[in-house]
Amino acid sequence: EKGGYDHFMMKEIYEQPSVIKDTYRGRLLANIGIVQMSGVEDNLEKFLNAKRILVVACGTSWHAGLVAEYIIEEFSRIPVEVEYASEFRYRNPIINKDDVVIAISQSGETADTLAAIKLAKENGAFVFGVCNVVGSSISRETHAGAYTHAGPEIGVASTKAFTTQITILTLLALRLAKAKGTLSNSDYQRYLLELELIPEKVEEALLTNDIAKKIAEIYKDASNCLYLGRGYNFPVALEGALKLKEISYIHAEGYPAAEMKHGPIALIDESMPVIVIAPNKGHYDKVVSNIQEIKSRSGKIIAVVTKGDTQVKALADHVIEIPETNEPFTPLLTTIPLQLLSYHIAVLRGCNVDQPRNLAKSVTVE
Ligand code: M6R
Repeated sequence: EKGGYDHFMMKEIYEQPSVIKDTYRGRLLANIGIVQMSGVEDNLEKFLNAKRILVVACGTSWHAGLVAEYIIEEFSRIPVEVEYASEFRYRNPIINKDDVVIAISQSGETADTLAAIKLAKENGAFVFGVCNVVGSSISRETHAGAYTHAGPEIGVASTKAFTTQITILTLLALRLAKAKGTLSNSDYQRYLLELELIPEKVEEALLTNDIAKKIAEIYKDASNCLYLGRGYNFPVALEGALKLKEISYIHAEGYPAAEMKHGPIALIDESMPVIVIAPNKGHYDKVVSNIQEIKSRSGKIIAVVTKGDTQVKALADHVIEIPETNEPFTPLLTTIPLQLLSYHIAVLRGCNVDQPRNLAKSVTVE
C-alpha cells in the first residue's frame, strides 16, 4: 500500500506530479485559454463583487493560503487576508456580507476551521471550501468549493495536499484575472501554459532526492535550523520549517529573509544551518545579500536555486537546483526539496516519519 516506498510520506511526495495534474485536469484548458471550476463559475459574481477575500486555515493549509494571498493579489487585484482559523474565530473579527471567505483544509475536519466557517456564515459571508476529502464536514458546511484531487494523504506531515491546494488557488486567481481583465492577454496565456508544465517540472525537482539525502546526512544532528525566503517563497520557508519540526523534532523557524536583520541574525553561528530559498526570480539580488550576511557570521548555507545559478552557488555550502518557472509558481517547485530534506533527516534520526509524536492527522479538537 506504500507503493514500494518505505513510508507514506515518501510515496505522497512522489505522487505530486500526477496529483497536481489530476487537480487541474478538466479545469485548465491552456491551449484554448480557459480556466473553469464549476464551484467558481456558479458563483463568479460573488467573487467579482468581493471587496476582499479572507482565507482561514491551519498549519500547512494556512501556508497554502499565504501563497494564495500573493497570487490572488498579483493576478486579480482583490485584497486578501489570511488568518489562522483559531485566531479568527475567537477574536470578534469584522466580516462583511460582501466578503468571500476561503476555507482551506486537507481533511475537511479541522475543528478550528469548521468553527471559523460557521462564524463567517452567521455573518452573511459567502464561504468557498478547498478540501481534499470528499464529503468531509467542511465540504458540506461551505456554500461551494473545489476539491483538490490529491487522493488519500496518510502521512501526518502534509505534502501533496499543500501543492494541490496551491494549484486550485492558482486556478482561482487566473479565473478571476480573466474575468476582471487584471492580467494582459499575453501574461494570462503565458501563465496557463506554464501551469500546465508544472507536473513535469515537479518531476524534475524530485531528482533532488539524492542531494537532499546527502545534505541530511551532514545536518541530521543539528538542534536548530532557519529557513529563509522572500515574496512567494516566504510561505515556503514557513512550510519547510514546519515540516522539519513535525517529523524530525529539530527546532526550526521560517522567516522572510529581510527580517533577519531585525533579530534572528543574532542566532547565526557556525552551528546554524540556514536554508535559503533563492530562485532567480523576485528580489534575487536581495537574497544574495542576505546570504552574504549569513556567510560573514559563519552560518552554514543550504540554498535552493534555479538550475544554472552561479551567484548563490559561489557563496553557499550546498545548493539544490530546481527547474526554472514563473515567479508565482516557484513555490510548487521550491517546496519539493524541502519536503525531501525533512524526510531524510527524520529517517536518519530514527523518527516515526508517518506518525510523529503528539500529532494526529486531523485536529478535531479546539
Ligand atoms: O486537514 P487540514 O488541512 O485542515 O489540517 C490543518 C493542519 O492541522 C495540518 O496542515 C497540519 O499542520 C499538518 N500536520 C502539517 O503537516
